[in-house]
Amino acid sequence: MVMATKKAPLKVGLFVGREWSFPPAFLEEVNRRNDGVIAEYMKVGGTMMNEPTEYRVIVDRISHEVPYYRSYLKNAALQGVKVVNDPFMWSADDKFFGASLATQLGIASPKTVVLPNHSYVPGIVPTESLRNLKYPIDWYALVESVGGFPVVLKDAHGGGWRDVYICRSMEDLWRNYNKSGLLTMVLQEFIEWDNYARCMVLGQEDVHVMKYSPGQHGAARYHEQHDFDAKLYKRLVDDSLTLCRALNYDMNTAEYAIRDGVPYALDFMNAAPDMDINSLGKVHFDWMVTHMADMVIRLAKSNEGTRDRYTWTSHASKASKAKSPRKKLVTSE
Ligand SMILES: Nc1ncnc2c1ncn2[C@@H]1O[C@H](COP(=O)(O)OP(=O)(O)O)[C@@H](O)[C@H]1O
Ligand SMILES: [Mg+2]
Repeated sequence: MVMATKKAPLKVGLFVGREWSFPPAFLEEVNRRNDGVIAEYMKVGGTMMNEPTEYRVIVDRISHEVPYYRSYLKNAALQGVKVVNDPFMWSADDKFFGASLATQLGIASPKTVVLPNHSYVPGIVPTESLRNLKYPIDWYALVESVGGFPVVLKDAHGGGWRDVYICRSMEDLWRNYNKSGLLTMVLQEFIEWDNYARCMVLGQEDVHVMKYSPGQHGAARYHEQHDFDAKLYKRLVDDSLTLCRALNYDMNTAEYAIRDGVPYALDFMNAAPDMDINSLGKVHFDWMVTHMADMVIRLAKSNEGTRDRYTWTSHASKASKAKSPRKKLVTSE
């Protein structure tokens, strides 16, 4: 009699921060399906280089605030894990690069300029350390280049509406810039929008389009229904997929300010997007939970790894081949 050997389940690990509704609902949804994949919270505490991991997929919702986790995840990627989101891309991304990339991808994007920093870490001596910097800044030309006032001044690496200012005059702009300290700020064309969308994109193939009211609080922000016509809806889906595929994000929201039917991509580096039931409401929350479960199960069963995109993998495998002991030549001595 042939005994059927039971295959060990594939494991999905989760890193989380201060969120309470999404993590347990997501873990329960994956485990409830009993589909050969189990999901659980991860625990780490000091990591040896090249430490292997038992996880096939890791979902990361907090490494932007816990840098040790980011280092851990880069090592996990090197071991072949599929990390959601790619810790390398996330480390490199910013709203200025994003605006340039979006434009190259043919996506409508507000005109965007990156500004020199306002302040520097101690030890920077302007006459010596900043010799590449032109001085003074030609503020009038920069404002003109993004279409004149009002302009948006915001942190190139920001999230959660921190350090976002709508400036209506030069005094306004300087006052806010003078508060920016060590941050890298972008100056952006203000899109006078008549509608607004926020699209959740999972696994670079699944898009959930939501109508959104920025500035509102809690559940008032996300509308249960949208009012986008078919052409606009299709463009939102297509642009969101194009952006997330180019950036290699598997869990991201893309935000669009819509003016005269054209969606301008404003903010598409939300790599740990809001998944709280209190802001999303039940309908959108249920979509997130079930579609996140679909995605991690698909990825766990695939051969995809975060490292597939990077050339260091092929160098590492060449080096390990070179080091492996050669077969002894059999000679007739
Ligand atoms: N270029 C812009 N034109 C119009 N409104 C903008 C623009 N940039 C930002 N905003 C407004 O500011 C909000 C926060 O900016 P956003 O870039 O999304 O920053 P965060 O990453 O902090 O969410 C947006 O939801 C939008 O309402
Ligand atoms: Mg935003």
